[in-house]
Amino acid sequence: MDSSPVCLDDFEEHAVRVLAQGPLGYFQTGADDEITLRENRRAFTRWKILPRVLRDVSSCDLSTTILGHRISFPVCVAPTGYQGDAHPDGEIATAQAAFEMNTCYTMSTMSSKSIEDVSSAAPAGLRFFQLYIFKQRDITKQLIRRAEKAGFNALVVTVDVPFLAKRRKDIRSKYTPSPQARTANFTHGLHDGPDGLHSHVAELIDPSLTWDDLTFFKSFTKMPVILKGILTAEDAKLAVQAGVAGIMVSNHGGRQLDTVPATIDVLAEVVAAVESKCEVYMDGGVRLGTDVFKALALGAKAVFIGRPVVYGLVYNGREGVKKVLQILRDELESSMALSGCANIAEIKSNLVRHLFMGKL
Ligand code: FNR
Repeated sequence: MDSSPVCLDDFEEHAVRVLAQGPLGYFQTGADDEITLRENRRAFTRWKILPRVLRDVSSCDLSTTILGHRISFPVCVAPTGYQGDAHPDGEIATAQAAFEMNTCYTMSTMSSKSIEDVSSAAPAGLRFFQLYIFKQRDITKQLIRRAEKAGFNALVVTVDVPFLAKRRKDIRSKYTPSPQARTANFTHGLHDGPDGLHSHVAELIDPSLTWDDLTFFKSFTKMPVILKGILTAEDAKLAVQAGVAGIMVSNHGGRQLDTVPATIDVLAEVVAAVESKCEVYMDGGVRLGTDVFKALALGAKAVFIGRPVVYGLVYNGREGVKKVLQILRDELESSMALSGCANIAEIKSNLVRHLFMGKL
């Protein structure tokens, strides 16, 4: 990039210029017609902010907690696979960037670096481990044990991938992670298949998973469990009954079932359904400080970002990811000050209104 990025979209533009078709397609792709992918962004524009004035915003406190851990601002890193195809340092750079920005990093099961290497690269950092539950239950249990031993603070169980959706860019490019990007978490039993990512992952994940299995895995670990991929009030209530510590309202960044709603549009329903019995987070299409503001106003404790972190890695490794987080932090601070909020608790639902549902 000739000039320094000033917003998150600038990082994607840079990635489009420098990455090969295979990795670029893998990072960018949604499922099928990519309707949900686009909707995740568009839906934010339909929510409007109603600012208050004359409320002393000379200093804004952006800090908050997730699962009792203090973070300096409510933007965390979502799990994304194969970061070695974005930058040789991959997940190590991402974990260090999140730690240096004092926020939470989530490591994907499908990481290019191992659980142990990522942990020792940022040993004091707040970190969650994202788990896919595999047909091979022994391997799943081993992953949980290793994450626990390596000091991960929570387990994020992804529940929206019983099968991998159809992602056209990956099919067309026959994307398969390059050797330095392949999954480092499996010492035996699981390996990247020769046929490319699509068929490989589909084969490994257990599509027979039910709420009962989840109860088993929950009892198997001391780590608090967050369910990632909830979009309905009904499932949110079942998640609460199952005793989860948190729910991630997510449609996998538009990469799984196409035409599901944007996450920002179902967030309030999920928040209402859980009746404060667990924390609720969201991801999907968060690119601006005003997006973060809207999600918090609608009840999210924090938001997570996926693709922008990958594009930050492409731009400049650890420093690039830090820059992405810093820009979003600064934009959130500005949104808060301009809407009369001096701290996170003041970002309430009366400060946002939906363009169609409201009377604007
Ligand atoms: C993902 N996501 C994801 N989720 C997960 O639970 N495990 C994973 O391994 C991955 N891998 C992955 C790779 C890539 C390239 C992307 C873009 C996404 C989904 C991710 O955690 C998150 O839900 C979305 O990325 C959020 O949407 P945005 O921020 O990318 O719009």
